[in-house]
Amino acid sequence: TGLEGLVCVKDFEERALRTLAKHPLDYYQSGAGHEHSLRLAKDAYLRVKLKPRVLRDVSNCSLKTSVLGRPATLPFGVAPTALQRMAHPEGESANARAAQTRGAVFILSTLSTTPIEDVAAAALDARKWFQLYIYKDRGVTRQLVQRAQEAGFEAIVLTVDAPIFGIRYADTRNKFSLPPHLEVANFKGITRSDMTSSGTGSGVNEYVAGLLDRSLTWKDVAWLKSITQLPVILKGILTVEDAELALKHGAAGIIVSSHGARQVDTVPAPLEVLPGIVEKLKGTSCEVYVDGGISTGTDIFKAIAIGARMAFVGRPAVWGLACGGQQGVEKVLGILEDELRITMTLSGVGSIEEINRDYVDIPSVWTS
Ligand code: FNR
Repeated sequence: TGLEGLVCVKDFEERALRTLAKHPLDYYQSGAGHEHSLRLAKDAYLRVKLKPRVLRDVSNCSLKTSVLGRPATLPFGVAPTALQRMAHPEGESANARAAQTRGAVFILSTLSTTPIEDVAAAALDARKWFQLYIYKDRGVTRQLVQRAQEAGFEAIVLTVDAPIFGIRYADTRNKFSLPPHLEVANFKGITRSDMTSSGTGSGVNEYVAGLLDRSLTWKDVAWLKSITQLPVILKGILTVEDAELALKHGAAGIIVSSHGARQVDTVPAPLEVLPGIVEKLKGTSCEVYVDGGISTGTDIFKAIAIGARMAFVGRPAVWGLACGGQQGVEKVLGILEDELRITMTLSGVGSIEEINRDYVDIPSVWTS
C-alpha cells in the first residue's frame, strides 16, 4: 500500500508535503498570520512533562471511555476539516470510514466536499458529529441541522470562533480557489457551492465572508438548541469566561480550540488554557474536549491528564488521507492508539479514568 515506511504522524505529514499540490497543501497547512500560535500549539505539548510511575502491574490496558453519556472505544477523534476531497478522491467518506474502523468519533465539516448523506451512508456505524457554521440564511442553516439529524449524526458542533476567517497569507498569495471539479457539496442547488476566488485573495475567506453570519451571539446558541434535540457542543473556546457562558447556555460540551491556529495569530495554545477551563467546569454537565497541535499518542495522554474527556486531531487525518485515503487515516489513528497505549503502560496506568494530573508536570503559569 506504500504506507509501510510511515511509522509516525510526522512521517505522514512529510509524505503529504511532498505529494499534495501547492494550493491544497498551503490551505491545509497554514495558520493565521506569522503562525506563532501554530507553533505554540505544538510546543505546549513539549512543555508538559510525563511523570511515569513504576512497578505497577500493567498487564492490562484499556482505552475505553465515555462521551456524551455513551461508551466510546477511544478517547480521541477526528476534528472537522473542510474540503477533504482535495487530499483524496474519497475525501470525507474515506476519513469517516477510517474513524469507524478504529472506533474514533468523526466530526464532519459543514464545508465538506461530500454531502452529509453520502458520508453517513459510507460510515453507517461510525459515531458521527456534525460541525455547523451558521449561515445568514437561517432557512439554509435549519435545513443543514435537519439533514444531519436525519442522517444519524449524534451531536451538533457549533463553531464559535469563525464569524469570518483569519488571514492565512499563503491562501491570500495563492488566491486560493476550490478546484472546479469539487464543490461545497452540502449546498449544491441550495446556495453558493463554489469557492472561486474573485481574484483579490482567498476564495475560502470570500465564501465565508459572503455567506456566514457574523452577527452571532449567545442568543443564537439558544436558537440552535430550540431547533434541534441533539446535544450542542461549542467549538473554539479559549477563555474561562466563555467556558462558563457555554455551560450557562446549555452546551453539552466545549472544544477548547484555536481552530488549528488559523483564526487570529498569537492566541494561546489550547493546551495551556485547558487547566483553567477544566477547573471551572469540573463537576458540571458540560464536557471538555481539546484540539490543536496533537501529533502523538503521548500528546493525547497529556491532554487527558490535564482533564480533557476527548482529544481531536485535524491535520493528522488529512495527512493520512493524502498518503493513502481510508487506509492512510486508519494507519494514522492506529499509530495514535498504539502510542497512547504505550504511554499509559509506561506511565503505570491501565485505564483512561486513572489518567490525571499526578502523571504530568504542568508549567506553573498555566494553573496560576
Ligand atoms: C480546520 N478546522 C475547521 N474547524 C471547523 O470547525 N470547521 C471547519 O470546516 C474546519 N476546517 C479546517 C480545515 C483545515 C485544513 C484545518 C487544518 C482545520 C479546525 C479543526 O477542526 C481543528 O480545530 C484543528 O485542525 C486542530 O488542530 P490540528 O489537529 O490540525 O493541529
